[in-house]
Amino acid sequence: MENTIFVTGGAGFIGSNFVLQRIERDSASVVNLDKLTYAGNLHNLEAIAKNQRYEFVHGDIADRGLVRGLLERRKPRAVVHFAAESHVDRSIRGPEDFVRTNVDGTFALLEEVRTYWGGLAEREKTDFRFLHVSTDEVFGSLGPNDPAFSETTPYAPNSPYAASKAASDHFVRAYQHTYGLPTLTTNCSNNYGRFQFPEKLIPLVILNASDGKPLPVYGDGKNVRDWLYVEDHCEAIATVLARGRVGQTYNIGGWNEKRNIDIVETICDIVDEMAGSRGAPRRGLITFVKDRPGHDRRYAMDATKIERELGWRPVETFESGIRKTVQWYLENDEWVRDVTSGSYRQWVETHYSS
Ligand code: NAD
Ligand code: TYD
Repeated sequence: MENTIFVTGGAGFIGSNFVLQRIERDSASVVNLDKLTYAGNLHNLEAIAKNQRYEFVHGDIADRGLVRGLLERRKPRAVVHFAAESHVDRSIRGPEDFVRTNVDGTFALLEEVRTYWGGLAEREKTDFRFLHVSTDEVFGSLGPNDPAFSETTPYAPNSPYAASKAASDHFVRAYQHTYGLPTLTTNCSNNYGRFQFPEKLIPLVILNASDGKPLPVYGDGKNVRDWLYVEDHCEAIATVLARGRVGQTYNIGGWNEKRNIDIVETICDIVDEMAGSRGAPRRGLITFVKDRPGHDRRYAMDATKIERELGWRPVETFESGIRKTVQWYLENDEWVRDVTSGSYRQWVETHYSS
């Protein structure tokens, strides 16, 4: 086994932040398998494209021959599985891709990893890890006074996205229980930060605010999410990978519940301050639109276990993290222009016109 981490979906939002962070902070090599769907972007990884410890492979996690060959050639000590279809609204419009990648793809990956792991020497078998990156959305929706989700909260996924992630979580659990594959699962709340595709609330609102376009808020805007700065999430994953107990799941969150409307107003104010408002505050662009079908009302994460067992806590506050994020989107015109052509424009047109 080599000191190599096999990352799936490392050209996406969280995956690319994780890969950059590991190359910078670790001694491990990273091999990144990514299909480069609309959400994958190799520009995110330009800074390390020529690094000796980094390799990019273009392909699908469901391509078992490709995955097998890669595992045999690179002999990783760990797999960190990010690859997924990740946008709830897209899952409502077309759930099939979510089943194909999140369920079938995870299954295919697990099968190939099980075979590879089965062929390792005893000591290597013990040291190997399969870390599955999941979401708080598998737990369903909370009432205003319900306690936050813990690791023992029963699964109650409500969207096709959440259902597909829940299914993949169950397969990971079963592979540990049945075959002894040394797995770890992390369930994280909403991330924000650089490289997030602007179909998700925070980057969409930053870019629309900056362009003077309407800021679409679903329903009454009082849905609550817990928000975590992406670099904190990546550190949490690295912590669980290094010291998490095999077979366990860890909730990761920012201790930071916010209503959507409050997030949107905060972004308006920061963009006004950074870009100037010429006497027309951007809060005036807020437009309440038709609600998302089955829209979960509230997510909240109890991240006590990871803090108590592994000593991880987020370091970024929402106030500092959101300022950094707004600034990054305002300063990275080229990245924005790159991802907001073609298929992006088509999505925005289809989704927000109906
Ligand atoms: P993303 O949509 O930005 O990126 C997904 C990446 O996976 C893309 O690079 C895409 O090209 C790749 N991919 C998709 N299908 C693939 C396939 N079949 N084979 C190989 N690569 C494929 O997603 P993200 O926001 O970075 O999320 C990463 C993971 O974290 C997902 O598993 C998601 O469920 C989970 N998660 C996300 C959040 C969040 O707030 N974004 C929160 C909790 C958990
Ligand atoms: P999103 O970023 O899609 O993440 P998730 O659905 O996984 O939580 O959405 C975050 C919240 O913002 C969610 O409650 C839906 C809401 N939202 C809007 O109000 N308007 C929008 O245009 C989008 C994309 C989301």
